[in-house]
Amino acid sequence: MSAPLTIAHISDVHVTPVKELTTRQLNLKRTLGLVNWHRGRKHVHRADVAALLVEDMRAMRPDHVAVTGDLCNIGLASEYPAARAWLESVGQPRDVTVVPGNHDIYTRLRKHPGVELWRDFMSSDQSGAGVPGAGTAERGFPIVRHLGCVALVGVNSAIETRPFVAAGRVGARQLAALETVLKALAGRNVARIVLIHHPPLPGMAPRLRALSDAADLAVVLARAGAELVLHGHNHRDTLNWCDAPGGRIPVVGIASGSAARQHKGEPLARYNLIKVRPIETGWAIEMTGRGMLSPGGGIVDLDRQVLTQHAG
Ligand SMILES: [Fe+2]
Ligand SMILES: [Fe+2]
Repeated sequence: MSAPLTIAHISDVHVTPVKELTTRQLNLKRTLGLVNWHRGRKHVHRADVAALLVEDMRAMRPDHVAVTGDLCNIGLASEYPAARAWLESVGQPRDVTVVPGNHDIYTRLRKHPGVELWRDFMSSDQSGAGVPGAGTAERGFPIVRHLGCVALVGVNSAIETRPFVAAGRVGARQLAALETVLKALAGRNVARIVLIHHPPLPGMAPRLRALSDAADLAVVLARAGAELVLHGHNHRDTLNWCDAPGGRIPVVGIASGSAARQHKGEPLARYNLIKVRPIETGWAIEMTGRGMLSPGGGIVDLDRQVLTQHAG
């Protein structure tokens, strides 16, 4: 039986500096995003808080880190290298897997590469690239990485949207590829952990913030199976379940990794440590949250949950 493995999950750090817009970058979505950011979010998401979490996370020595998007704020060209620098503070590209969020694929970027600057954090590894379906949809998704007893499957749900819309879409092509990947991995004795920015099931977000094809994704997950889904976007700690014939799939949403104070009911910054242990009947998956109990406080254990005792 292969060795247990620990994955740290952090999301929605919104850590990149926001500068005033130049005429070239000016459009309605960015302008409204900038106004909104000045009104609220700039007081909430703080780089020093994210750095504190990352320092604590590194001290815990997880085997791998999963980042489920929204590193950026209003998709300015200057935000992408800044986000990359933050990713490098988390770890090497081979040890950190990223999927983009709606603030990362935000609006038109003209010729700037945008999230492509993070490609080595956002690509299949050599073994994962050989899995049928891997990398066959738009932007090279879904991505697959093999880490001992775990296969990470990264899905892109971010699309450029009009102002006031934070919705996402996986798309028919990527859904088909995801189903192929999950089915191919089913026989390989690995716990399949799906990473996606938007909440993956219907009814988990209001329409203008939701995944438009969540119902189709839920069908794919139920049909192909997975052992765990990790997502961000709502900036809240949630646990939902996706019914699947092979056993219910836990779907875990997480608070922002940089929230210095509570905002609109969103909790303070946290990350999760997810321990996957192979057992006779599948995998035991246990999750420990670490973060701040009060603004300005140190990083401590917040809670512990057993997500599943036997899957697969
Ligand atoms: Fe976010
Ligand atoms: Fe988001």
